[in-house]
Amino acid sequence: MLLITGGAGFIGGNFVHHWFENNQEPVVVLDKLTYAGNAQTIAPFIADGRATLVKADICDRDTVRHLLAHHRPRAILHFAAESHVDRSIHGPAEFVQTNVVGTFSMLDEARLYWSALEGAEREAFRFLHVSTDEVYGSLGDHDPAFSETKAFEPNSPYSASKAGSDHLVRAYFHTYGLPTLTTNCSNNYGPYHFPEKLIPLMILNALDGKPLPVYGDGLNIRDWLYVRDHCEAICQVLKKGQLGETYNVGGINEIRNIDVVTTVCRKLDALRPRADGSQYESLITYVKDRPGHDRRYAIDPTKIQRDIGWKPAETFESGISKTVQWFLSNTEWVDHVRSGAYRQWIDTNYANRTAG
Ligand code: NAD
Ligand code: TYD
Repeated sequence: MLLITGGAGFIGGNFVHHWFENNQEPVVVLDKLTYAGNAQTIAPFIADGRATLVKADICDRDTVRHLLAHHRPRAILHFAAESHVDRSIHGPAEFVQTNVVGTFSMLDEARLYWSALEGAEREAFRFLHVSTDEVYGSLGDHDPAFSETKAFEPNSPYSASKAGSDHLVRAYFHTYGLPTLTTNCSNNYGPYHFPEKLIPLMILNALDGKPLPVYGDGLNIRDWLYVRDHCEAICQVLKKGQLGETYNVGGINEIRNIDVVTTVCRKLDALRPRADGSQYESLITYVKDRPGHDRRYAIDPTKIQRDIGWKPAETFESGISKTVQWFLSNTEWVDHVRSGAYRQWIDTNYANRTAG
């Protein structure tokens, strides 16, 4: 079986869906169920017994040790993290705790577990660490896209804490020989995306007739990847990745934020026209920028394409259509995650952004 940390979050939850569409092997999900985790996302698999959900903190080493001894996973897929840049600006401590200390806890318990394995079981074991392109820092307009050898230059508490976790993974391979794999992926979007992030926030604000808050000049660039393409990349790296290696995952899909938002608006105009006949774009509002806002991210996926044979199946057009459709059809999930704590965050983050 697989041990999946953060499997009730956005990407981990999509991974569980993707896994059971293609495999029968059971999974154990270790998740603290923070504001970003939602058991409903993987409820069908918990109900039919293919997934077991354990609500616990990755920093709780006794629980991690017990889970490893009891379930004897052939791999750990480590998704759990605090993942939102804006939250890391308001409260960085949680990011250091979960992303750095939590990853250390997972690595060290994995080392103890793996060291005691023998033969084929030891040979097969993998620790796959899911990370981000944000560790590489920000690109200028004409800089080449991030390759795996690009120096780390993290700029936010989020990306710095992820960079710290990546370094620990590297050290556990080099020092102890722990069979690690690391993926550094670009911005994901798709079903079950928590609506504090750009794309789901814009879809849901638009449907509510609320302003669509675009930070700064709206010309920051992200390299967008449909979440299921990321999940497939992780499956393939788990199967074919070289131990100790890192793989950059991206869709060659660089898009300016303002173009992402207008695309979402166009899709909504077609699928759910506004009652007064106006276009959703009229809700776009430029607001005060994020402090230290990285200008551009772009992934050079040459290595994963060449060595693993992975490439994305979705274009941005096809992926965003599926995403908008999903949010229109899954109002129960959306209502559930937009709880009191969510509304409090929206007030905190957008209260002082009135200046365009
Ligand atoms: P998310 O915030 O949606 O989900 C994180 C999950 O981890 C939640 O279920 C949460 O409950 C759980 N969690 C948080 N702290 C925990 C703790 N201390 N112990 C146990 N569980 C805990 O994040 P996501 O977008 O699904 O990202 C998953 C991983 O992928 C992260 O490591 C992130 O850095 C990385 N990543 C994300 C993106 C993206 O665009 N979202 C891109 C590249 C890489
Ligand atoms: P986000 O989804 O938070 O991902 P990340 O910061 O990890 O790339 O933001 C994506 C881009 O959208 C980023 O450049 C910040 C911008 N953004 C807005 O313009 N308005 C918003 O309300 C949010 C949440 C993000």
